[in-house]
Amino acid sequence: MIPFGDPSASYQAHKSEIDQAIKRVLDSGWYVLGTEVDAFEEEFASFHGKNFHAVGVANGTDAIALCLRGLGLETGDEVITTSHTAVATVAGIEQAGCTPVFADIDPNTRCIAPDSIKEILGGNTRAIMPVHIYGQPAETGRILEIAQAYNLAVVEDCSQAHGAEINGQKVGTFADISAYSCYPTKNLGGTGDGGVILCRSKEFAEKIKSLRQYGWNEARESIIPGFNSRLDELQAAILRVKLHHLANDNAKRRAIALRYNQAFQDLPITLPALNENELHAMHLYVIEHDRRNELMEHLRSHQIGASLHYPLAVHQHAAYAKRIRGGENLPVTDRFYQRNLTLPMFPELSAEKVDKIISAVTNFLY
Ligand SMILES: Cc1ncc(COP(=O)(O)O)c(C=O)c1O
Repeated sequence: MIPFGDPSASYQAHKSEIDQAIKRVLDSGWYVLGTEVDAFEEEFASFHGKNFHAVGVANGTDAIALCLRGLGLETGDEVITTSHTAVATVAGIEQAGCTPVFADIDPNTRCIAPDSIKEILGGNTRAIMPVHIYGQPAETGRILEIAQAYNLAVVEDCSQAHGAEINGQKVGTFADISAYSCYPTKNLGGTGDGGVILCRSKEFAEKIKSLRQYGWNEARESIIPGFNSRLDELQAAILRVKLHHLANDNAKRRAIALRYNQAFQDLPITLPALNENELHAMHLYVIEHDRRNELMEHLRSHQIGASLHYPLAVHQHAAYAKRIRGGENLPVTDRFYQRNLTLPMFPELSAEKVDKIISAVTNFLY
């Protein structure tokens, strides 16, 4: 079966550098929050431009919760996001004690629709959390305008969009604070859990560094109630290697997406947008089709691991159904979830396999 993503191919592609990094950490005898984490934080911050700060944390869900806690949001404060995301986005908002609210998505970007944000604003709204879903940048310009007009914070969930850009500016640098997952399947993925927060303010970074370790100050006195959300040295060392190759790996993903889009352009399916002014990170390549279950079965019978991202929108999960404001009125999201289908996408996917996938999709639809 051709998988839809392949973390082991990523390891094999960068094996000698990763093996050296692992050995370096094991030999050092220091395994959590050390020089590798410091170096990763510096390199991740400068990858995004001058004057940014990064803080490594245990996973992307914690990164979201820590951003909101760091901003001082409190119980009952509402954060507007989308139901079309990994459950983790919403779990992170609730972990911080905040209340998620759902806006609908735009059918072209599949990211939060700015007009829908305006419709769902309420008296307790404190923040907007756009998710750059599948690596497609959300409409950050309009989102920031709304945030400014209503005095709201913006936290970008960049977990699927490491290295994506709008007009040459990387996602994660539009808002003052952004959260990333470095789970193994991500474009910037380790071999275990990991996450990172990017921000502009040194003071905010210091606050997150304290919050990630029991609210400690330098004397290890807890000055605020905190978490345990530390990044380990092995993950940091591996992420440093992966960061070095990220732009190139993303370019390989985009080249595959371009081949798919060109091959499918005359077929009756909805394709991901590849806009000229944007660099799509192409974390996942997701098409839409009315008979997607049949198409998925057809592809699987040809050993192609077509998959669903996700089988359910967050408001359709038992844990969230009927209790999140906005969840009852998401027509674009609901339609998308009847039609979405993920095709294989990872930098190491060979040209022959891409040909095989293109033929199988084309044979089904012609
Ligand atoms: C959009 C999005 N947000 C947040 C997360 C949370 O990341 P993690 O699994 O590292 O907690 C993920 C990853 O699953 C994600 O895809």
